[in-house]
Amino acid sequence: MANVAVVGAQWGDEGKGKIVDWLSSRADVVVRFQGGHNAGHTLVINGVEYKLSLLPSGVVRPGKLSVIGNGVVVDPWALLKEIEAIRSKGVEVTPETLVVAENATLILPVHGAVDRAREEARGASKIGTTGRGIGPAYEDKVARRAIRLCDLADPAVLDGKVEQMLFHHNALLRGFGAPEIEAADLLAQLREIAPRILPYAGVVWDRLDALRRQGKRILFEGAQGTMLDVDHGTYPFVTSSNTVAGNAATGSGMGPGAVGHVLGICKAYTTRVGSGPFPTEQVNDIGELLGARGKEFGVVTGRKRRCGWFDAVMVRQAVKVGGINGIALTKLDVLDGFAELKVCTGYRHEGRVLNHYPAGQTAQASVEPIYETFEGWSESTRGARSWADLPATAVKYVRRIEELIEAPVTLLSTSPERDDTILMHDPFED
Ligand code: IMP
Repeated sequence: MANVAVVGAQWGDEGKGKIVDWLSSRADVVVRFQGGHNAGHTLVINGVEYKLSLLPSGVVRPGKLSVIGNGVVVDPWALLKEIEAIRSKGVEVTPETLVVAENATLILPVHGAVDRAREEARGASKIGTTGRGIGPAYEDKVARRAIRLCDLADPAVLDGKVEQMLFHHNALLRGFGAPEIEAADLLAQLREIAPRILPYAGVVWDRLDALRRQGKRILFEGAQGTMLDVDHGTYPFVTSSNTVAGNAATGSGMGPGAVGHVLGICKAYTTRVGSGPFPTEQVNDIGELLGARGKEFGVVTGRKRRCGWFDAVMVRQAVKVGGINGIALTKLDVLDGFAELKVCTGYRHEGRVLNHYPAGQTAQASVEPIYETFEGWSESTRGARSWADLPATAVKYVRRIEELIEAPVTLLSTSPERDDTILMHDPFED
């Protein structure tokens, strides 16, 4: 039985929540492997709404093990708050149902302070981060000064590590004219939270290895999207982790062979939150209509998402760099009623035609999309549960997308409801 990794194939917010929820009902273990509480999705199960940021989606389903891997940056206060919030809705979360990698990096209040001070200082060139300290925490990890979950159980190193970390960050905060952080205050906060968070700490790689050998189905739940990947995305307007499926292995402590089927999620159009290039963006009535129909507001920050046409060049690139085996295409119904639709099939740049998205910042901002135009459909596709329910023009649109991105559409979602999904292929049956 294959495992499955679910990743975003655009700029995040592709509608992963619904697909991950459907898949998590069929998995035994759900693993987050990157990102932190910058992610956000809403699950509706039996009429009850759950908002998750850091917890894996399986957490709301009894009998599943939820795992936060070493590749995630964990804000312990945010995690406990989220656990409390879903407990208040009757969901049981215990160290038996949730394990956090002991070697995961912690996000501390200083990271949020640096994240926000730096964004403010960047002015017009700001990245538009979620302000949750994600970037500064990953920076500390690679700079070898991070506090990891296991350090909370090791008083012999904690004081020294906090001193060293604050030596660096207070210099930055001073430079930004922001208040500095007192080591004694931070240590007191860490000592207070340690006994509450440490019961969840575990040896994740070992647990996952054992579960894999028992034949359990593992679902790797990616956050954000390929175009926000720190290597493959629209750098520097990206998040600070690798969002591609390759990181499911590194970020959880398994080998690449354990990742299994890679399911990429993308919308039938494109959206982005935060700053950065977006070649097919429609700053006009079309963009407004897509945003209104698709209810395009961020779950974490409430920000209005930028909207535009489907970019097949970018999704094809996501398929290639992330090893995506199949695509789940979401929100097709948002396109109902458009007289015509456009899909980007290449870019024009300095008199040449490119069939890939270039890496350079100036080129990324200045490429001009080459569009193929499609006849729209007036019928509603909302709630369609089979190909036969779709208008011929909608089928043509999806089939052409498959051709352009060089990957099959194995799942098609036609409304936020879980059952309004057309399934061509079960990724766990690979
Ligand atoms: P950070 O991850 O908070 O550092 O933000 C970096 C960029 O990633 C910003 O453009 C954010 O808007 C974007 N971003 C981070 N998390 C998400 C997400 O879950 N969905 C969509 N965009 C995200």
